Amino acid sequence: MGSKYDLAIITGGSSGIGNSIIESVSKLEPDASLFNLSRRIPASFSNDPKRVHLECDLADRAARSTVLDELVRRISESPQKGPILLVNNAGFGIYGDVVQHPPAEHLELLEVNVCALVELTLRLLPLLKERGGAVMNIASTSAFQPTPYLATYGASKAFVLNWTLALGEELKGSSVHAIAVCPGPTKTEFFQRAGFSKRVVPAGYSHQPEEVSRMALDALYRRQRFTVTGALNKAASLFSYLLPLALRTRVAGRVIRRFRPNPNN
Ligand SMILES: NC(=O)c1ccc[n+]([C@@H]2O[C@H](COP(=O)([O-])OP(=O)(O)OC[C@H]3O[C@@H](n4cnc5c(N)ncnc54)[C@H](OP(=O)(O)O)[C@@H]3O)[C@@H](O)[C@H]2O)c1
Repeated sequence: MGSKYDLAIITGGSSGIGNSIIESVSKLEPDASLFNLSRRIPASFSNDPKRVHLECDLADRAARSTVLDELVRRISESPQKGPILLVNNAGFGIYGDVVQHPPAEHLELLEVNVCALVELTLRLLPLLKERGGAVMNIASTSAFQPTPYLATYGASKAFVLNWTLALGEELKGSSVHAIAVCPGPTKTEFFQRAGFSKRVVPAGYSHQPEEVSRMALDALYRRQRFTVTGALNKAASLFSYLLPLALRTRVAGRVIRRFRPNPNN
């Protein structure tokens, strides 16, 4: 495994799963240059010329477009001409009743989780087709059912899953591979940022980000089209998927509602 990509681009490498993907990729591909797009700089990026941080609020269309121009220019000018790996990982959730959050928050989520992912992929696809490569999009097990109290997040991840699978099918036989990764609960900043209560993930039912990045990259190098990380998440997703849609929605709502900050709600 490894030594396949000359260059890797990742969004949201400043923490959590994205940060672990950066470290895993640099072990597997020691010669590859790395580009990260997020608001904060990943800790390991400050003093390494092969690790380039492009500061960007991916929710901001104008800023995103400027940074993408810069990214495409830098890649085109880079002496490395081999295959490219694009990892669309940046994302966040908002927890609570849909009406509890202003429309602008839902739209910000869609910009980061959906629009940035589509724009980055489409801007970079010509280069990937020319040089070969892969697109790895981080979806979620939330993609397998409507997720009351995480409504916009779950729907955004259903988009990521379906869009990536469709893209992968269209790219069949080309030099570009696409994979959707569906992690289950993972110990990162995600839950705090989304506004969950502290003890949201039962200890035995969550992964470390390093485990998720290892499973995601295993699946990528095996050229899978999608993967759910971990046996328990695979079983839970399959179970959910087999339920009628209305029941699936109700069960998901019951489970997610339990994580309100106020236990009396
Ligand atoms: N943790 C879980 O249980 C879980 C489960 C399934 C799927 N996922 C997915 O995994 C991905 C990574 O999440 P994580 O769990 O690692 O959470 P995390 O630790 O909160 O990391 C989220 C990353 O996304 C970036 N990001 C968020 N908003 C951004 C914006 N407006 N502009 C640029 N970058 C932005 C953050 O960078 P900055 O803050 O520096 O901008 C950060 O690097 C997400 O797509 C998430 O939906 C997570």
